[in-house]
Amino acid sequence: MIGRLNHVAIAVPDLAAASAQYRDTLGAKVNPPQDEPDHGVTVVFIELPNTKIELLHPLGENSPIQGFLDKNPSGGIHHICYEVEDILAARDSLLAAGARVLGSGEPRTGAHGKPVLFLHPKDFAGTLVELEQV
Ligand code: CO
Repeated sequence: MIGRLNHVAIAVPDLAAASAQYRDTLGAKVNPPQDEPDHGVTVVFIELPNTKIELLHPLGENSPIQGFLDKNPSGGIHHICYEVEDILAARDSLLAAGARVLGSGEPRTGAHGKPVLFLHPKDFAGTLVELEQV
């Protein structure tokens, strides 16, 4: 069911410092920060030859990233995103297998303008999994 790794999202306490590290120390192609007010985050997309890294930083009140940074003050891997061809079919098959889908269970529009769902980390080896329909 799952296809390519679309991105790995890393929550960071200092977006400028993390961007500079990826650009200058790791030599990656780092894009300018983008505010995503609907998701409560500012995102920096880093383009690698085979996937993307997304640096996430809280934006505004009640950011979903803030609690994670409170628990992990130096930052950490927040989620990984796998591509699926049909997100509703993927959801239904996961629900039938006993996996938990976060939120209402209906896909939302993600940071790339495509439908996404998140799966409960306790069902996937402690990893928050995002599915994105491509
Ligand atoms: Co994501």
